[in-house]
Amino acid sequence: MKNLEMPNNSINVFDLEAVAKTKLTTLAFDYYSSGACDEKTLSANMTAFQDIWLRPRMLVDVSNRNMTTTVLGQQISAPIMIAPAAFQCLAHAEGELATARAADKFGTTMVLSTLANYSIEEVREATAGNLWFQLYVYKDKGVTRSLIERAEKAGYTALVLTVDSPLLGRRERDVRNKFNLPAGLVCKNLIGNYLEQLPAGSNDSGLASYISSLYDTSLTWKDLTWFKSITKLPVIVKGILRGDDAARAIEYGADAIVVSNHGGRQLDTTIPTIQALPEVVEAVDNRVEVYMDGGIRRGTDILKAIAFGARAVLIGRPFLWGLAVAGQSGVLTVLEMLRSEFDLSMALSGCQSIGDITPDLIASENRK
Ligand SMILES: Cc1cc2nc3c(=O)[nH]c(=O)nc-3n(C[C@H](O)[C@H](O)[C@H](O)COP(=O)(O)O)c2cc1C
Repeated sequence: MKNLEMPNNSINVFDLEAVAKTKLTTLAFDYYSSGACDEKTLSANMTAFQDIWLRPRMLVDVSNRNMTTTVLGQQISAPIMIAPAAFQCLAHAEGELATARAADKFGTTMVLSTLANYSIEEVREATAGNLWFQLYVYKDKGVTRSLIERAEKAGYTALVLTVDSPLLGRRERDVRNKFNLPAGLVCKNLIGNYLEQLPAGSNDSGLASYISSLYDTSLTWKDLTWFKSITKLPVIVKGILRGDDAARAIEYGADAIVVSNHGGRQLDTTIPTIQALPEVVEAVDNRVEVYMDGGIRRGTDILKAIAFGARAVLIGRPFLWGLAVAGQSGVLTVLEMLRSEFDLSMALSGCQSIGDITPDLIASENRK
């Protein structure tokens, strides 16, 4: 493997998580790492990958390997993107700016969260790389419309509509910590709408209170038609776990789908994403691109997701650990670690290019 700059001798994302834990406040570490309720889905996202066995091909010339691919027509250096994650200044003062610059250096797409600490415009100015904007839908249609218009005007190339969060999952660690943003941190995208602060003094997670009072819980498929009518950008639907929902998303105009359970942070005991992926891929039947996230911690996880039909994966917590440990260079290190592991997995399974990563690489008992 390539010699990477590895903060504190970390050689994989688990090492970086351990270092990040020493750098973050309990409130921030719990917010980043936790899942909903008993955190069953959080852990199952990872163990489900470990329960899948590979059938590598031998004696293939793997002296030249190509990991590049495209997402919605944009080339990326490896099929790994940055998932939307709120409040990145809890990890590092440069927050989303550092993440965006690292993603650009690596050659991939970053998805900026509605709940970012830096604004749509600030992140756009920080990098020349490809950016998508993740949308949470506010009851106030004017707020939603303005976020879409700003992302479009700033040059973001797609909208990622998160559909699994009409309310916030019950993240008990955040409830116990009465999660809120430290003084001075706000959701900069919402400044001017009086929505930039989480409510203070709540006996619950401040984020849960914020979302339950402001997000539109009445959202349905027909709203997807509305989004499509007010933007020229492709709309990617994030949070799909069933084939019938994937088919419906396409029917209502989705341009791509992200199979996701929000990293186990919403409805606990939902199916691990790698198990949901084949059903979605089958229902989509190549009509749009399918991405997935949840539990990607190893190069073999990426190989398995692609073998099951994902075009690319997104990572959440791993890049946050890199950000906490070393800002921009930490995020880049995480991306390079995963790319390097993925490259080795391709070589050891007889794959020269992404197109060689086919379902027969997966053991038949895991393909049922
Ligand atoms: C701290 C944190 C904040 C997140 N914030 C958002 C968000 O603002 N919008 C969103 O659509 N998903 C959000 N997610 C979910 C991620 O986009 C992604 O689905 C998930 O992290 C993938 O799982 P992984 O962390 O195991 O890689 C967040 C996840 C984490 C860990």
